[in-house]
Amino acid sequence: MAASGSAVGLGNIWKFPYMAGENGGAAFFIIYLALVFTIGLSVMLCEFVIGRAAQRNPVGAYGILKGGAWKYVGFLGVAAGFIILSFYSVVAGWAIAYIFKSVSGLLATSDPAALGALFKNFTADPWEPILYHGIFMALTVAVIIGGVNGGIERTSKILMPLLFLLLVVLAVRSLTLPGAMAGLKFYLAPDFSKVTGATLNGALSQAFFSLSLGMGALMTYGSYLSRSVNLIKTTMLITLCDTAVAFLAGLVILPAVFAFSFDPSAGPGLVFITLPAVFAKMPLGIVFAVLFFVLLSIAALTSSVSLLEVVVAYFVDERGWQRRRAATIGGGVIFLLGIPSSLSLGVWSGFTIGGKEFLSAMDYVGSNILLPVGGIAVSLFVGWVIYPRALDEATGGGAHRFQLAPVWRFICRYVAPIAVGWILVSGL
Ligand code: TRP
Repeated sequence: MAASGSAVGLGNIWKFPYMAGENGGAAFFIIYLALVFTIGLSVMLCEFVIGRAAQRNPVGAYGILKGGAWKYVGFLGVAAGFIILSFYSVVAGWAIAYIFKSVSGLLATSDPAALGALFKNFTADPWEPILYHGIFMALTVAVIIGGVNGGIERTSKILMPLLFLLLVVLAVRSLTLPGAMAGLKFYLAPDFSKVTGATLNGALSQAFFSLSLGMGALMTYGSYLSRSVNLIKTTMLITLCDTAVAFLAGLVILPAVFAFSFDPSAGPGLVFITLPAVFAKMPLGIVFAVLFFVLLSIAALTSSVSLLEVVVAYFVDERGWQRRRAATIGGGVIFLLGIPSSLSLGVWSGFTIGGKEFLSAMDYVGSNILLPVGGIAVSLFVGWVIYPRALDEATGGGAHRFQLAPVWRFICRYVAPIAVGWILVSGL
């Protein structure tokens, strides 16, 4: 449950719809699905297997299973944790802020220009978003200090299904708006002539990001699992849940985007600009809006916890720090690192790296470079270095059936490293 909580988050609801919007809709979605159910599934199983076999954080796990240069792959994961959480927390802060903006009735309009201006003014403010970013980081640190097991598991069990239900309701509303069918077509009728290197690269990084792969988050969670858990089933279940939520989010956002004539390639503001318009067209819209942003904030929290847990597990296991100290200092540094991301939508928008403002640049380095590199490493490691042991771990010593094991091995050895490597390099 905690791992599904990690997978389902802003990646599904905030990032997936705007990535699909920017990258041609249906063609992006189909490529995304293909990558998730081949490479994504396989890499996830690799992470669980390594984590549980080693019973350690990523740095320690590579160290104990093989040692040598492999340890640096673990360090890369810890670094990715800092980078990804820094901007993730900024966006999660927007979600918290939108709870309050919904309550105050500020969002109750379906005028695209007004909602766009509202989002722009809010994110451009130098203080307010940083305040919410700080609140979100503090919550993440508090959960980590309390320990991942109890709280997160309970939260995921109750609130994730509720989020799912709410998305179904919203999808129905969105799909019945006049003009929504153009959005549905955009989302589900593929035009492969629009596929470029950027589409592939976007779909791949989105697959890794959404499934929480490539930096050892699920490795760390795997290290807390007992030998009796069926990792193969767990992997299937998490992947299905995560994909279902992303699909639904697309079904909510994209029809509404077309119905209200928003711009599908509006980028990171898309969900925050589009959804309030949908709420405004519903009875009890304010109630739905508040509920939605509360659930989104919680979904973000069960994800951010897995990012910070990697950092904390490293400092606790390998450096002998107290858990509380590791969480507070780690969280503090990540908070500071997030400040430029927050400011990059306002006063620092002129400062760009490779044509991207700071927040998108951090996302790019984390999701498009570090996660795929981590994914290549983990699949090579399982496919070539520890395969017999990995197979034994995956099947729980032969207790669980795994007919597709040869396929898994083939993907780990060849398909994942070559495909991910090729997409990565061509993307650069
Ligand atoms: N998967 C989460 C989401 O979709 C984000 C996330 C949590 C993540 N842990 C991660 C992404 C580890 C990459 C790596 O919102």
